[in-house]
Amino acid sequence: MNAKKTVAVCFVCLGNICRSPLAEGIFKDLVSREKLDDVIHVDSAGTSAWHQGEPADKRMSHTARSKGVFLTSKARQFLREDFDRFDIVLAMDNSNIERLRNLKSSDEIKNKLFMFRSFDPNHQGNLEVPDPYYGGEQGFEHVYKIVERTCPELLRHIRSKFSIY
Ligand code: 4NP
Repeated sequence: MNAKKTVAVCFVCLGNICRSPLAEGIFKDLVSREKLDDVIHVDSAGTSAWHQGEPADKRMSHTARSKGVFLTSKARQFLREDFDRFDIVLAMDNSNIERLRNLKSSDEIKNKLFMFRSFDPNHQGNLEVPDPYYGGEQGFEHVYKIVERTCPELLRHIRSKFSIY
């Protein structure tokens, strides 16, 4: 038997319609370009169920599409059991990570829950991806730039941590 080990990654924001669907879309494309689709499973969720079942926000989809990235997620809430299904969970801001920490004991999540921007080579001490929902067009562009430069570093980390060559 030679079952291939898989790694499951989940990006988490508040509504699961802006930041985490974008991270899911960009990271999926990267994983696909590296021919790792059958090794790395990519998903996203929100700490709230406010937008359950909705596609990504039109403004976020539009920004992504203008760079050739197509967002296909449907919003759903991250549940306590999700920590058992995912190997890495990435929170977009401080309130997201607080809510996630409240779902499980710290022992059970200490090696899988991270701030997404802790992998940003240019975070300069700011580990939050700003929430673009109530702002203008430039907020979505800003989020895009952060996510675009962080995803390759995240993939490098995952390759090394899970010995994916
Ligand atoms: P997200 O953005 O957490 O990046 O999906 C938001 C989406 C919706 C709301 C807030 C943030 N909202 O208040 O409905």
